[in-house]
Amino acid sequence: MRKGILTIAAVGLLATGGLTACNDDSSPEAGSSAKTPKIGVILPDSKSSARWETADRRFLEEAFKSAGVQYDIQNAQNDKTAFQTIADQMITSGVTALMIVNLDSGTGKAVLDKAKSQGVATIDYDRLTLGGSAQYYVSFDNETVGKLQGEGLSKCLTEKGVKNPVVAYLNGSPTDNNATLFKAGYDSVLKPKFESKEYTKGPEDSVPAWDNAQATTIFEQQLTTAKGKIDGVLAANDGLGNAAISILKKNNLNGKVPVTGQDASTEGLQNILAGDQCMTVYKAVREEAKAASDLAVALAKGERKDTGQTVKDPEGGRDVPSVLLTPKAIYKDNIKDVIADGYVTKEAVCTAAFAKACADAGIS
Ligand code: BGC
Repeated sequence: MRKGILTIAAVGLLATGGLTACNDDSSPEAGSSAKTPKIGVILPDSKSSARWETADRRFLEEAFKSAGVQYDIQNAQNDKTAFQTIADQMITSGVTALMIVNLDSGTGKAVLDKAKSQGVATIDYDRLTLGGSAQYYVSFDNETVGKLQGEGLSKCLTEKGVKNPVVAYLNGSPTDNNATLFKAGYDSVLKPKFESKEYTKGPEDSVPAWDNAQATTIFEQQLTTAKGKIDGVLAANDGLGNAAISILKKNNLNGKVPVTGQDASTEGLQNILAGDQCMTVYKAVREEAKAASDLAVALAKGERKDTGQTVKDPEGGRDVPSVLLTPKAIYKDNIKDVIADGYVTKEAVCTAAFAKACADAGIS
């Protein structure tokens, strides 16, 4: 068995009760009659995070190939019209299941509803479509992702010994339900500290479409507004974190001001090795892709799986059957776990400039 670094609980969910077929045909759903599986996947973009093209595409292909099913993976490149066109083409081409990472809930819902009306099974992959109609939702425990970020920032601020630190927020896209969940997670750690005046809340902005370039401008503005007095940055993913770090560098503040992240991207891990980033959150996308693929294949075969868990859609009020995997906080000393898990390679992370830092971090 592959050695993952997921918690035992998450592996247990998948290995045992998690994806047991229950063949309950009491309420037939879209995609419920046995068909030869063909799975369509629409990824959101390739700029808001490297993960979609470097991890999700790779691990989805791996899962579909090992299940021996046909598939078509496309990327909407942050274009909502293209997203809908791709969905239409996939439906016409006869996909039995459509897996989407929505660009926003409104356009996501339109795609899901259309697929459903044509008898195509649907899965919300990574992002829940609010008010949507997906048969399953496969993701990570996203509030825990945010909690790990809040705890990570707090740990790094303590290590720096800053008294009453000013903390700035760079939230994710306002149209991504995950961004809302991440914020709920980090607020649960940091809000009490703002309230007790242990920390001071600095500027806060949401970054449209997680646009890394825009995040640079936004953070530069935040630093100006705060007159240079920002002691920690809660950045919702590695791309936003890197944007903040680039501005901190311009001001000779990198390494002094801890910055968080998410996705364990090569760039994020290198920023941690350089001492410019406090931590990242690793999400084992291979497990996410495998869980979603298993569900899509089962739906095509007319089976209904009991995932043992539901998530309440706050807009539609539905309890959506879900698989939620466990994220893991990554600091300098456990970057090696991400490499051992096959998520990124040592060659990519430990380039000449990072050779010494890699050796110091025990990456061999
Ligand atoms: C994903 C993150 C990703 C972000 C930007 C979120 O929905 O969960 O992993 O960094 O989108 O693409």
